[in-house]
Amino acid sequence: MKTIIVYSSQTGFTKRYAEWLSEALDAELLTIKEAKKQDDAIFQAYDAIVYGGWCMGGNLVDADWFLGKANEWSGKKLAMYGVGATPADAPEITQFLEAAVPAEQKERIRAFYCPGGLNYDKMNFFCRTMMKMFAKSMNKKQDMTEYEKQKAQALLTNFDISDRNYIDPIVAYVRS
Ligand SMILES: Cc1cc2nc3c(=O)[nH]c(=O)nc-3n(C[C@H](O)[C@H](O)[C@H](O)COP(=O)(O)O)c2cc1C
Repeated sequence: MKTIIVYSSQTGFTKRYAEWLSEALDAELLTIKEAKKQDDAIFQAYDAIVYGGWCMGGNLVDADWFLGKANEWSGKKLAMYGVGATPADAPEITQFLEAAVPAEQKERIRAFYCPGGLNYDKMNFFCRTMMKMFAKSMNKKQDMTEYEKQKAQALLTNFDISDRNYIDPIVAYVRS
């Protein structure tokens, strides 16, 4: 099955998942920047197209590109994965996955989530500032449970919760 993984990544976590997927599925890799420059026709050569984007403010970056193109990609296996700093078992991930694909496309596109982490050193100035402000505001909240406190504190520094095992359901879906 000829497969391509298109990805958007600022600090490297989504890229890492794209590389793991590329290895597991023997798939080609393309950044979203390169993908946007391509003639639409090149995507017709693939049986499966996977898009991976990092999560920003509850949305998947450049998901619109993939969801828009998907309408021209009939008969192909289509999957999307989001990579964020939120742990995979957090309740907001269920909501994120539910909202990631519009109702009319749910039959054709499956969405997945892979936890990444935070890397302040690789963020651009705007993102670093936004994330630090968010982290500080979370830590100022009153009456937090121990779990919420730990979560808020984790946001103040770099961390990495990525794991290759999270690609397994995506690999199984693309191969099915
Ligand atoms: C401005 C900003 C907003 C973010 N919003 C979210 C979010 O809504 N949910 C989440 O889980 N992570 C969020 N993150 C964290 C990133 O999604 C996370 O660091 C991800 O691993 C980055 O992927 P990348 O390394 O491929 O760029 C945000 C980060 C920034 C800088």
